[in-house]
Amino acid sequence: MGQSQFVSKCTTDALQLAATTLLHGNLVAFPTETVYGLGADALNKQAVARIYETKGRPADHPLIVHLHSMQVMGQWVEDVAEYAIALARDFWPGPMTLIFKRSTLAQDSITGGQDTVGIRVPNHVVALALLEAFHTLGGRGIAAPSANRFGHVSPTTAQAVSDELSEYLSAEDQILDGGPCTVGVESTIIDCTGQAPRILRPGGISIEMIKDSTGLTPLLSSNSNEVEEIRVSGSLEKHYSPAAKVLLDVVPIAGQGFIALEDSKTEEGVIRLAEPKNVVEFARDLYSALRKADEMGLAEVVVEQPQGEGIAIAIRDRLERASKGR
Ligand code: TXA
Ligand code: MG
Repeated sequence: MGQSQFVSKCTTDALQLAATTLLHGNLVAFPTETVYGLGADALNKQAVARIYETKGRPADHPLIVHLHSMQVMGQWVEDVAEYAIALARDFWPGPMTLIFKRSTLAQDSITGGQDTVGIRVPNHVVALALLEAFHTLGGRGIAAPSANRFGHVSPTTAQAVSDELSEYLSAEDQILDGGPCTVGVESTIIDCTGQAPRILRPGGISIEMIKDSTGLTPLLSSNSNEVEEIRVSGSLEKHYSPAAKVLLDVVPIAGQGFIALEDSKTEEGVIRLAEPKNVVEFARDLYSALRKADEMGLAEVVVEQPQGEGIAIAIRDRLERASKGR
């Protein structure tokens, strides 16, 4: 699990090379504020097919198209509701993905055959620089899921991407190292095709923020019944899972890993994997702590779930799924 030959620091040259590599049909993993993404030219079917192979992801799960600015979104989508414009204006660049009716540019290869497409403008200086360089070369958008094998924990460092995917990458592919992600859980996904916004996956943009921005009360997906219909892979019951078994809100015993806010004590023999000061740090540190459990070969990890609203809802959503196992 050493540093692989694919990882490069984000110099101007490396970014330029990465944009060119993408345009030639190769894959580039890049940092965003949420998690690392595995990018391909969204218009290149072969390159997009390689994302699915590399992740081991079923072909009917759609990908998010990443753009450097909402100004170029019009190429990809149709029928943008007024509330969606408010959301884009208020929270992009940021940890939010909006789902719209697709234009003809958005092919089945990225939408999983659906008539909608997911769009995100990430808030990370490296992601934006890469997206801009790609745009300048004539690229239209970068399709990118989280850079992990299907069903596994999303990576929040370049090292984690390398550990997950190096063995599946080809010589021309790259991993850009932009340091650890600051948000740490995936974007809030909001379906904007209806009368009101509908949250398909909770994330850094909370229900309250959506209400304040749009003046509308967002609907919440009761995901289990809708998986078939909308195919949000992140809403499958089992997802975001480490190899270790995740146990929620029980008292940890010796030999188990333990993740909880800093005011929870660590009993003797229990292996403390993270002690975040608040929910924001909790989200930021969660996935790397789960990975640490696997690196240490722990069989079980106990997580004390943070209470409250905001990003705590996203944390509990991921933990519920992680606890269902693989
Ligand atoms: O924070 C994020 O969103 C990260 C970074 C890299 O941007 N990306 C990410 O992508 O988490 P992924 O593919 O791992 O999860 C995106 C979810 C998937 O569950 C996918 O099914 C759903 O978004 N999705 C994408 N397009 C969709 C669409 N048109 N309709 C419904 N769900 C969609
Ligand atoms: Mg994912």
